[in-house]
Amino acid sequence: MAETWTSSSVDAHLDWTPGSGRQALAHAIRTAIRDGRWQPDAVVPSTRALAADLGVARGTVTRVYADLAAEGYLRTAQGAPTRVATAGAAPLSSPDPAHVRGARPRWTLMPGQPDPSLFPRDLWLAATRRVLAHTPNDTFGYGEPRGSLVLRNTLAAYLGRSRGVLADPARVVVVGGFSHAVTVLGHALADLGMHEMAFEDPSIDRFRQVATAVGQRVVGVPVDGDGLVVAELDSPSVVVTPAHQAPLGVTMAPARRTALTRHGALVIEDDYDGEFRYDHHQVGALQALAPERVVYAGTASKSLSPSLRLGWLVLPRFLVDPVVAALRRTGMVPPTIDQLVLADMISSGAYDRHVRRCRLEYRSRRDRLAAALPAHVVPHGISAGLQLFVPLSPEQEAAVPAAAARHSLAIERASPHAIRATDPLTGLMIGYGAPTKPSFAGALTALLGVLGDIGV
Ligand SMILES: Cc1ncc(COP(=O)(O)O)c(C=O)c1O
Repeated sequence: MAETWTSSSVDAHLDWTPGSGRQALAHAIRTAIRDGRWQPDAVVPSTRALAADLGVARGTVTRVYADLAAEGYLRTAQGAPTRVATAGAAPLSSPDPAHVRGARPRWTLMPGQPDPSLFPRDLWLAATRRVLAHTPNDTFGYGEPRGSLVLRNTLAAYLGRSRGVLADPARVVVVGGFSHAVTVLGHALADLGMHEMAFEDPSIDRFRQVATAVGQRVVGVPVDGDGLVVAELDSPSVVVTPAHQAPLGVTMAPARRTALTRHGALVIEDDYDGEFRYDHHQVGALQALAPERVVYAGTASKSLSPSLRLGWLVLPRFLVDPVVAALRRTGMVPPTIDQLVLADMISSGAYDRHVRRCRLEYRSRRDRLAAALPAHVVPHGISAGLQLFVPLSPEQEAAVPAAAARHSLAIERASPHAIRATDPLTGLMIGYGAPTKPSFAGALTALLGVLGDIGV
């Protein structure tokens, strides 16, 4: 069981199990510092207070603090309270065994990730209790390959209401997130004789790798300020992010949406952050324009957590049987209990409340980030999602890794996501959703340091 305690300077949750020893306690404190829960310069609890709170010998805490000071995590001084070291602290002299493959950067602005501390633990727990109290025994069997009917019914109603998707439960299938969706669709399309998948250029490379791994030939189609250049599409299927192009942030223009649904290719609509729109201009799902030509794909990875591995597809009717056959072959079904918990959260209104709360938080971070950027920088894709895009010259982008290492910041460049071999688009994908609330300010300072170093 994890222990929680508070003091006047840090209010932190230590993932530490009583009786697990000194190394485990040191690891829990390192993690709290890296995650920003113990903020730079904060006074840490006295050895006496922490020992009493955790029920361990004071000498244990004293030794842990001494080790962490030697590693550069804590700062001690004669006659002064021990504090968390400030950013740019001494390098670790003895790496945390949990991270021996290289010290993790202290700050993160990685794109595509929600703040893990916003996961609604209490709501999830309450929904789990309700599900376990009421679900029949056969829930604990193997379950439906296409997903629990309870969740499919709930999703059909939810997606209609929130995203304008034309869904009925018979064409909804539950998958293990978008990566699994690409696997399953890749197999199903191949079974139908379709062996080429087009992706936006640029687009997130790991999904293209998944498509390649299941035998699809991957080709790129350029993106401009209106989204995918439909006139250049010449493949039987295409994966698009029309609401918020990943990584450039463009919203697909109405004329392009119409042209794409009339093109004839099967469209796979990756609506990965559709819940997070900050302007009043709602962008509905493309799927509503052509439900028999568009596969709608959603995921719980941004709204809840990528650790759940829960996503969903709304399929054209002709694809339902091939996709269910492919699902059986992949042998992977998201856990039924988790599916029922998600269904409970959606139908009780808890999911909507959670999404609203997150939207407010991310919107305020987006505003702080946009205000902190140098005045001449024009960020793209600020009206939605958990990330924005800042174009850079190739030289500036090339200088990012060294500058990011200096400022201990995890951040991602755009050019590795390009498909074209020459003249890739260069810039930074800034994921303001990823840091925990207390570490956002530190991450922002690190970002400004990086931008200054590379001459932005
Ligand atoms: C463009 C895009 N689509 C989908 C996802 C979600 O993927 P998954 O559902 O596999 O977590 C992400 C997450 O980073 C993403 O960036």
